[in-house]
Amino acid sequence: MDDHERTRSAWEEASQKHVREHEDLLDEARVARLTGVERDVLAPVLTSGPRVLHPQSGHGVDDAALVHAGAASVLGLDYSPTAVRAAQLRADALRLPCRYEVAELPPLPVPTASVDLVYTGKGALGWVRDLPAWAREVRRVLRPGGHLFVLEAHPLVPLWTWEPDEARVRPDRSYFAREHTNDSFPALGAVETQRTLAEVVMGVVGAGLHLVHLVEHPEPFWRPGGVEAAAWDGRLPNAFTLLARVPTPAAEGLPI
Ligand SMILES: C[S@@+](CC[C@H](N)C(=O)[O-])C[C@H]1O[C@@H](n2cnc3c(N)ncnc32)[C@H](O)[C@@H]1O
Repeated sequence: MDDHERTRSAWEEASQKHVREHEDLLDEARVARLTGVERDVLAPVLTSGPRVLHPQSGHGVDDAALVHAGAASVLGLDYSPTAVRAAQLRADALRLPCRYEVAELPPLPVPTASVDLVYTGKGALGWVRDLPAWAREVRRVLRPGGHLFVLEAHPLVPLWTWEPDEARVRPDRSYFAREHTNDSFPALGAVETQRTLAEVVMGVVGAGLHLVHLVEHPEPFWRPGGVEAAAWDGRLPNAFTLLARVPTPAAEGLPI
């Protein structure tokens, strides 16, 4: 089994959790709300009732939050058939306008300029091996004026230890490494791609999107239960949010 197959099978295995915890996730989805940082950035975009594409949609609870915040519809894509089935079951039970499809990305299997908002992150980008190709696909599927939103682990996160007394840099990790083997979640052995924050930004900008917002946050988007790491005490970056927009012909000075 190569790294790619090992990672994909780790996700298929990890996605069984969405089935085991169906009832809890259903309760979560029923009342799901975007997090504070998501609301701050996305509120103006969600007022127009966007058609949302959610690559790497996982358990889909975020999609319920997007609908509750104003999204007209959400199409979730994930390469785990288990995750897709579980998310669809919950969306149908709650009569949410969310549809899920099995897809390995990039590419994104949707028509050009058909989406108002691409929403992704929370443990997604580390599994995308070709970020420039991914960004070009995001750019292709968004309509002019459409947005890309990402809330993701800060690229420094793989370097922090989870010790409670003091945050330390792991001796086996480098900010500039190309990948590392994930040893916490989803499964031992999954190979996570690394890139610097500059590489993320340049990938997005290089695809022709305009950067609207980029903020680094001390709070991680996810805290594993039972862990109280000093790295989360507010002094280090643990997440970032990014909003980018496809230019409209008018903004480019072209005929509309
Ligand atoms: C940490 S989860 C994040 C998903 C979502 N944000 C959530 O909170 O559930 C990452 C998801 O990406 C999916 N995934 C990883 N690589 C992928 C790829 N190349 N194409 C499609 N899905 C992928 C996995 O199956 C998994 O469901």
